[in-house]
Amino acid sequence: MNQHQRPEPVPFIDIAAQRGRLGKSVDEAVGRVLAHCQFINGPEVAQLEADLAAFSGAKHVVTCASGTDALLMVLMAKGVGRGDAVLCPSFTFCATGEAVALTGATPVFVDVDEATFNMDVNSLKRGIATAKKLGLTPRAVIPVDLFGQSADHDAIGAIAESEGIFVLDDAAQAFGASYNGRRLGTFGLVTATSFFPAKPLGCFGDGGAIFTDDADLAETLRSVRVHGQGSDKYDNIRLGLTGRLDTMQAAVLIEKLKIFEDEIAMRNTVAERYAQGLGNVVTVPRLASGCTSVWAQYTIRLPEGSDRDGFAKGIPTAIYYPKSMHQQTAYRDFPVADGGLPASENLSDDVISLPMHAYLDEPTQARIIKAVRGAFST
Ligand SMILES: Cc1ncc(COP(=O)(O)O)c(C=O)c1O
Repeated sequence: MNQHQRPEPVPFIDIAAQRGRLGKSVDEAVGRVLAHCQFINGPEVAQLEADLAAFSGAKHVVTCASGTDALLMVLMAKGVGRGDAVLCPSFTFCATGEAVALTGATPVFVDVDEATFNMDVNSLKRGIATAKKLGLTPRAVIPVDLFGQSADHDAIGAIAESEGIFVLDDAAQAFGASYNGRRLGTFGLVTATSFFPAKPLGCFGDGGAIFTDDADLAETLRSVRVHGQGSDKYDNIRLGLTGRLDTMQAAVLIEKLKIFEDEIAMRNTVAERYAQGLGNVVTVPRLASGCTSVWAQYTIRLPEGSDRDGFAKGIPTAIYYPKSMHQQTAYRDFPVADGGLPASENLSDDVISLPMHAYLDEPTQARIIKAVRGAFST
């Protein structure tokens, strides 16, 4: 054996390992689409929507072109626009607030809980008050189920109900997770998710879906998805988008959904190994009571004064998110909840995400854990 052989590089996520497991099933599914040539609205799209409804428990599923379109289409369908406020966490991917701003409405940024990374309900209350003080009409709240863990939907739902605003759950990172025993897709008025390839359930391109029990909203969303078309294809009754999921991606997702449940269990095993191996050197993520995670990211917090840039050499890491939304150039003029967003700012300063995917084997993970621990040995 060559003593000097370098160890295999560790992938941050390993889409190829999943491809290997899926074998010919995806190739054959794509082959069927190539044979029938219904690249737009082919039979696989309706099939996938039925499969996603069965998986999530939502009555209606409207697939679409991306997670960003999923958020935007809901806001468009609900007529959210100028003069309206939509409450969003600041510590999230930019698409959450971007979709709001694209409608002409004002995203009002609220803080998150440092332990779960998810929306802080006290900051939400303050954000609603801030919006009103600014003369805006609060219309909706977008909780984000960040890094794969469900937000506190009971608490957020109760505030939304008392304020008469609707809940659009941004489950782009968390499809498959549950809250108090129920899968995401069934909380609030409506849920959006993303099938970007790196997501726990990802396709081989861009894709997204919207989940709701509201039949009228689902019908409006189906119109928004195709330029706001009415019953006559060339009579457009509202503004819309080219928001469809293409048939090829639907075919891929049908196959991937078959192994998703098992992959969620595998991701949880990986997360448990990290918690055991790292819990006494860094702050590992905490699951709130009643919440499960699909571990889109495994995000740790480094002790104060750590060298985040030179951290765990040889191990791929990523920082989600080095700037919260209210700290970014495009969003810094939008309002934040009274009291500021100290937790979001602290997290942006000290989080780092480790490799995470269902196929991360024990020896490779042991190398990662050793490298992380090594960063703190004196
Ligand atoms: C929280 C969140 N919302 C929305 C999106 C947007 O999804 P997409 O990239 O499919 O447009 C993402 C994607 O990264 C996300 O992480």
